[in-house]
Amino acid sequence: MSEKNTSIILSGSARHDGDTEALVKQIQGFTAWPHIELNQFSIGHFDYAYENQGDDFLPLIKKLIDQYDRWILVTPVYWYAMSGAMKVFFDRITDLLTEHKDLGRMLRGKSMAVVTVSHGNNLGDTFWLPFSETAHYLGMHFLGGLHTSVHAIESDALQDFIEKLNE
Ligand SMILES: Cc1cc2nc3c(=O)[nH]c(=O)nc-3n(C[C@H](O)[C@H](O)[C@H](O)COP(=O)(O)O)c2cc1C
Repeated sequence: MSEKNTSIILSGSARHDGDTEALVKQIQGFTAWPHIELNQFSIGHFDYAYENQGDDFLPLIKKLIDQYDRWILVTPVYWYAMSGAMKVFFDRITDLLTEHKDLGRMLRGKSMAVVTVSHGNNLGDTFWLPFSETAHYLGMHFLGGLHTSVHAIESDALQDFIEKLNE
């Protein structure tokens, strides 16, 4: 059951009601995209022995694969990178390359875009690389990234970014 261009916001803050949540609400002001907060799930670090297959990762990734074609990843910048919660989620996608290859193949053709938030404006050029290259590796389309600053949430830039995604 897959609808074309069905989007989901997947956020990765370490807190429920912080700056990332405010950014998600802002995005939802322009869209009807549903929101899943990684912090609400119990997702263990990647385990070479796959002993964490009973945690929340598998049901979550199945839902994302079955119901959504476009993932809008929203992450705070923690130490010049995506948040730990988002990175753990990325690491666990490795499960789909080994234990659940059928699911991994279903990622092909899907898309991801990224919106970030932090206090600064100091993202280096390589910040987007883990997203773009992971997407490429998985056969997903990387639709681009937008950084926003807590101090100056650029509503116009955000709206433009979302409109471009919808073109
Ligand atoms: C662990 C941690 C690391 C951070 N590292 C950075 C950083 O490298 N660059 C930056 O501009 N802000 C950094 N910040 C600030 C956060 O990006 C900023 O406060 C963000 O808006 C927090 O979003 P949240 O409320 O959803 O956690 C860091 C904050 C935390 C908690």
